[in-house]
Amino acid sequence: MNADIRPYTEDCWNELRGLLKNHWREDHPLLDRALFEWQYKGYGPLSKSSTARILFVQNKLIGFLGSIPGLYQIPYKDTKIVPGLALALWLVRPDYRGGGLGILMLLKTEELAHVLVCLGANNDTIRYLSKRNFTCMEALLRYILPLDAEGYKTLMVKPALYEEVLTWTRSINPGREISPIAPDTLQLQALWERSTDGVPLFSLYRNEDFWRWRYIESAGFKYLFFGEPNCAGIVVSRIERIYSPENNAFNHGKVLRIIELIPGDSGVWHGKMNADFIDLIRGVLSWARREGCWAADFQCTSSRLRPVLLDIGFKQQDPTYNPPLCSLAGLFQPLKFTIDTISVLWRINFSETIYLEPRDTYLVKSDGDTDRPNIWPLPA
Ligand SMILES: CC(C)(COP(=O)(O)OP(=O)(O)OC[C@H]1O[C@@H](n2cnc3c(N)ncnc32)[C@H](O)[C@@H]1OP(=O)(O)O)[C@@H](O)C(=O)NCCC(=O)NCCS
Repeated sequence: MNADIRPYTEDCWNELRGLLKNHWREDHPLLDRALFEWQYKGYGPLSKSSTARILFVQNKLIGFLGSIPGLYQIPYKDTKIVPGLALALWLVRPDYRGGGLGILMLLKTEELAHVLVCLGANNDTIRYLSKRNFTCMEALLRYILPLDAEGYKTLMVKPALYEEVLTWTRSINPGREISPIAPDTLQLQALWERSTDGVPLFSLYRNEDFWRWRYIESAGFKYLFFGEPNCAGIVVSRIERIYSPENNAFNHGKVLRIIELIPGDSGVWHGKMNADFIDLIRGVLSWARREGCWAADFQCTSSRLRPVLLDIGFKQQDPTYNPPLCSLAGLFQPLKFTIDTISVLWRINFSETIYLEPRDTYLVKSDGDTDRPNIWPLPA
């Protein structure tokens, strides 16, 4: 079989769109060209040319492996900042599967970067990537809390006593409400560097280009920034309106999706309680409650922020939606109570593979393509 793997170029858009539409999902949001181009643009030196790979057999486009360029900081000897890729959307036309073509695209992509990450892989992909020395974490750690006891209860997978939810909701100190700020990318970069200075974290290097591309210029969601980059730190979040075509009663509910928590004090990554950072998060929760949110969640690979989150009143949900009190639904657009958890894989490979504990990584929901719209256009 004569297989040809090339970088994706714009002239292949229509053919690629056809492949995704017919063999992935007929209404996939990435069939929207603006969303597709924004997602795969990324930032850093690898964003200067296309890193996504397309596969041709007999001049027919039959495969795609998307990858999002970024810059990663690696806690190895002195912290290094290197280009890397987040794998996102891997597809071979069904009649060509199982013949080694998918792996061929992966091998070609591996040649482009020493650092690769992948969020939201299914079991087969986890198997393939594990064989290629990726470290696998079954699921992002998910921290959740109720903001409105009645609303939260309706979003629970496993019934728990309303009284328990009410007690938990009441125990959360609401804090003084704060409002979103206009983000200043220079200040955000300085905050990230100050926050993680001396902290052994494998993570995207959050420079100005990162903040601009990933959140400010997002073609999918409207992200909101809260806090003080020069002081307490920041919270990046968005409000997600619940969309349930089957049951209109849910459709006025909202959930606060916290995407980034960046403390101004680097000690927080080591378990220190910083009152200003805690007040900031509480202030965001107050704002969200007044905006009508029923619940809040935050997902991350590192357990380093756990002490601060527990202090505020968050609890951790495990990958099986336990304990029952913490069984907040997994997807809100459309509302689905249980979905596969977001798996996380990474590989740092120079002359040898560098292995890191999940605690020493800060990968969040927006790292791959797991924080983009799932329905497009977004439900009104
Ligand atoms: C995932 C997908 C792109 C893989 O493409 P494919 O062409 O079917 O896969 P390949 O034939 O190249 O590789 C699969 C096999 O090759 C093996 N393999 C071959 N060479 C390999 C190598 N050098 N290194 C590791 N594995 C190798 C894999 O382990 C796997 O074997 P197994 O399934 O028998 O264990 C394809 O199956 C697909 O489109 N699936 C549906 C969409 C999907 O689920 N995408 C992933 C979403 S996260």
